[in-house]
Parts: sequence; structure tokens; C-alpha cells
Amino acid sequence: MKKIKCGVIGAGRVGMMHISNLIQMSEVQIVAAADLFIDNAKAELGQMGINHTYQDYHELLVNDDIEAIFVFTSTDTHEEIVIAAVRAGKHIFCEKPLSMDLNEEASIKVLEEVKKHGVKLQIGFNRRIDQQFRNIYEQVRAGKIGDPQIVKITSRDPDLLPYDLIKRIGGLLFDFTMHDFDMARYMMGSNITEVYAKGGTLIDPKLQEIGDVDTLAIVLQFENGAFALIDNSRRAVYGYDQRVEVFGTEGMLKAENVNQSTVEHYTSSSTNLKKPLPIFNERYRDAYMEETRFFVRALLDGTPLLATGEDVIMAQRAAVAAQRSLETGEPVKVDPVLPSI
Ligand SMILES: NC(=O)c1ccc[n+]([C@@H]2O[C@H](COP(=O)([O-])OP(=O)(O)OC[C@H]3O[C@@H](n4cnc5c(N)ncnc54)[C@H](O)[C@@H]3O)[C@@H](O)[C@H]2O)c1
Repeated sequence: MKKIKCGVIGAGRVGMMHISNLIQMSEVQIVAAADLFIDNAKAELGQMGINHTYQDYHELLVNDDIEAIFVFTSTDTHEEIVIAAVRAGKHIFCEKPLSMDLNEEASIKVLEEVKKHGVKLQIGFNRRIDQQFRNIYEQVRAGKIGDPQIVKITSRDPDLLPYDLIKRIGGLLFDFTMHDFDMARYMMGSNITEVYAKGGTLIDPKLQEIGDVDTLAIVLQFENGAFALIDNSRRAVYGYDQRVEVFGTEGMLKAENVNQSTVEHYTSSSTNLKKPLPIFNERYRDAYMEETRFFVRALLDGTPLLATGEDVIMAQRAAVAAQRSLETGEPVKVDPVLPSI
């Protein structure tokens, strides 16, 4: 079997998680890794058999053996690193979003480079391939609930993130709700035309100092006239909470949150079920593996990518509109036409 030789840029929280998945895949060989603070990761990478490491990612990019690059760095670096990797002729898997720039032109420029160099770019919208959400998606597309009219997404993190991480990967809208904008559009099969967002700091008022919120309630409207409701919180005291429901003319599909066990305990005084999984890397363990497998298959067999550069631009547009809606208190229109690259 042909193996795709890959390099990884970014060996932090998410990077190390992905790397431990990637080394288990027979179709992938991780040739080298780079991180600004590579000394912190060297020992762990060595234990996983990755001995070529760099502090400067440009040194990794000049390796002609490497066909594909996984970009797991903080979001404020994605644009720069993806452009450099594309110009080096590499295919790219990049964590979401592509850019924190409110001006879409920045992301369009990246996609123009991707097109010019004839490489593939997949975005890390892992929730698309979560087993349960994918099942809903396939049934909606197969018409099992008729025409979808409302998508409801509950997406709550277990706790606040450090302020310095928020500055590098974006606040609630750009880091977290980004997934929900994509999920809503994916499930509805229609592009977003309007966003109305209300948000506040009900958990940590100091977040206002860095322009962020910790609680959000969002209404979306789609080109087909249908709606989505999203609720987000940075702190669900019971653990990570991820639920999706799609309601349509012929019924409803919904996926409840995933708990540590399906065993429920009933007594004369109470019923008890195990707590939800604690955080994203456990909840979406299989989805993270599966999304990278999608990317590798696209390189090997030409199968479609799971999520494209155009998909992330559509989610980013919704995040920018939501930001404006928070600032103005008004619903904000969104251009539903895909960018033409
Ligand atoms: N898909 C998901 O479910 C999910 C979940 C969490 C985070 N993310 C995304 O993953 C990305 C990384 O987030 P994280 O929480 O791992 O952040 P992190 O800060 O833990 O890790 C980022 C790593 O990138 C490195 N880095 C930064 N700039 C660099 C550069 N110029 N060259 C080389 N290395 C550089 C840092 O040293 C750090 O080790 C973000 O884009 C975030 O939005 C995705």
C-alpha cells in the first residue's frame, strides 16, 4: 500500500492528539514535525518515532519527500503557514478556521494560492464525520424527515480557556461556534443568509477585557427559508455537551449527548446515568481519526474532501456576521453565494 509521507506543523494541545492518531494509520508516514517550542514536544515525538524535528517550519517544507502537511498551529498563523506550504507544493490539512481576519479577502488569497498550485486543502471540521451526526446528515439527505425546517445545536464546553490561548485561537465565535455554523449549514444543505446573535459574559465578566463572551444564543436563517438555533456556553459544569437535532416536514432526527457509559442506574429514590465525556478530544476521538483518513484517501484515490476551503469561508462569514450582530444588536445579512476562486 502506498504511504503518504507527511509533515506536521504545530505540536500543541490539538497537534499531539492528531499525531498520536496519525501514527496508527497504515496509509500515513509522519516524516517530521515542527513547532516554535519544539523542545517541549521532542521527547514525546521521539517516543512516537518522529525524530526529525524543527523549530522553524520552513526547514520542514524544503523536504521534497513530504507530500502533505498537517497544520495544527494556533489560528493566528494558519494563513501564513498554509500559503508557505502550498507554495512548497504540499497538500494541506488545516485546523479550523483558516483565518481570524474579519476581512474575507485574506482567506480568498489562501484559496487562490491553493488553486494556482493545484494542491488539495481540507479543513478540520471533524464534527461532520462524527458517527452520530453523520448518521443524521445521511438520513436528512435521504429525505427521511422530509424537508428540513429547523436545525438545533447545543454546543457547550466544560470550562473557560486561558486568555492567552483565546488570543491565539480566537474567542467563542471564531474558535468554538465556528464548528456550529458549519454543522448548521451542513445539516440544512443550504447556505446561511442572516445571523442574529445575543451574547454575554455570564461566567467570567473579565472576558470583556479581551472582547470575548462566554455565552451565546444565535438564530440563523438559510437560503431555503429555514432556520437554525445555536446555544453555546464555555462552562457546562457536568462536562462537554454536544447535541444536534434536525426537524422537518416528515419528522425529526436528533442525537443526544454522549456519556461515559450507556448504563443507567434506577432505584426507588432516583435514576442515574454516567456523566458526559469530559472534553473534545475524548468526545470526538473517532471523528478526528476519520477526518484525517478522509484527507489521506482524497490524496490516494481522488475521493472528495470532507470539508473544503469554501466551506470554511462560509462558516467564517457567519462568525463575522455574528460578531457584528453582537456589536450592533441587529440581525446581520450574510452573502449566501460561494466565493468564486
Ligand atoms: N477541531 C477541533 O475540534 C479543535 C479543537 C481545539 C482546537 N482546534 C484548533 O486547533 C488549532 C491549535 O489549537 P491548540 O489548542 O492546539 O493550540 P496550542 O496553543 O495548544 O498549540 C498550538 C501550537 O502551535 C505552535 N505554533 C504557533 N505558531 C507557530 C509557528 N509559527 N510555527 C510553528 N509552530 C507554531 C505553538 O508553539 C503550539 O505548540 C487552533 O486553530 C484551534 O482552533 C480545533
